[in-house]
Amino acid sequence: MKALILVGGFGTRLRPLTLTLPKPLVEFANKPMILHQIEALAKAGVTDIVLAVNYQPEVMVSVLKKYEELYNVRITFSVEHEPLGTAGPLKLAEKILGKNDDPFFVLNSDVICDYPFDALAKFHKAHGQEGTIVVTKVEEPSKYGVVVHKPGHASRIDRFVEKPVEFVGNRINAGIYILNPTILKRIELRPTSIESEIFPAICADGELHSFDLEGFWMDVGQPKDFLTGTCLYLSSLAKKGGKELTPAGEEHPYVYGGNVLIDPSAKIGKNCRIGPNVVIGPGVTVGDGARLQRCVLLKNSKVKDHAWVKSTIVGWNSTVGRWARLENVTVLGDDVTVGDEIYVNGGSVLPHKTIKTNIEVPAIVM
Ligand code: GDD
Ligand code: MG
Repeated sequence: MKALILVGGFGTRLRPLTLTLPKPLVEFANKPMILHQIEALAKAGVTDIVLAVNYQPEVMVSVLKKYEELYNVRITFSVEHEPLGTAGPLKLAEKILGKNDDPFFVLNSDVICDYPFDALAKFHKAHGQEGTIVVTKVEEPSKYGVVVHKPGHASRIDRFVEKPVEFVGNRINAGIYILNPTILKRIELRPTSIESEIFPAICADGELHSFDLEGFWMDVGQPKDFLTGTCLYLSSLAKKGGKELTPAGEEHPYVYGGNVLIDPSAKIGKNCRIGPNVVIGPGVTVGDGARLQRCVLLKNSKVKDHAWVKSTIVGWNSTVGRWARLENVTVLGDDVTVGDEIYVNGGSVLPHKTIKTNIEVPAIVM
């Protein structure tokens, strides 16, 4: 089977992290975001993956090429010279996606869930029409694409409204599709939106269906949602009962309940309290008596003694000083230093900065 992952855009909403790495390579639960998707696609029998990119292809190529062998898939980079939106990239990759009549998967690169590829393919083949999109329910639908069904129609979508201004429903596009290659005839090679131009056209022909997602879902393309998505992902790992999480107990006395994922190479000091909902990356050092909850410490970062960190992403190679307190969706970019006893009450700190005075209200530090 074939798949295309939409990897374009500049990831501006996930700055300052995306000033250092393209969004799909930012680690989510200690693994590049896009690797969660590549792994799941490979598991579902996909052998051809197209990455539709228009931003930093060199670093992506170097990082992702090595996974081809590991997952036994062919990864092709389809590079746009101008951003082609969310539909144009499908046309650009027509040679691969249209090489046979089999349907192909399409994914937004920033959505995290238990990807239901097997069940989705089965469902799609059973109704036999042009497209199926995965939908999920959210409380705040206005920042997504919303699907509307006719009364009595279980899965056929009547209307697709991208970012509705008025409430039309709360079942939203989860950014995961399976489409027949005939859709390529509907798309022109120019910047085009699949949500605003192509889905409405397929709906009008009665050929677009929805597939309800079970379990958690999150678009992790902005810091607040990245943290929420991390909590959801960790609790789903816990439910599955796998061995990834670090269990509380004598061996890990610092795990203070809730779900905690710690890379084995991280060093944790004495008398720490870690959890719930914490991810600690490789090479991280946590000093004595630190208190961590609902936060992510990226690779090679350092949290010094007695620091208190909550609702925060600590960027790669950054340092949080002794007795510092970080909270309220604080994001430190790469190589940031927060001084001892400093308080940061939310906001973003750009790479290589040093914070020497308190930040009392959320701010962008450049
Ligand atoms: N190759 C390429 N070229 N990819 C692009 C481009 C482009 O010009 N523009 C955006 N993308 C990619 C992004 O990297 C992302 O993976 C995906 O297309 C969707 O773009 P976002 O910018 O993340 O859109 P959104 O989050 O506002 O809305 C989309 O996702 C929601 C679910 O998270 C829409 O598909 C909504 O309908 C959907 O509900
Ligand atoms: Mg998004």
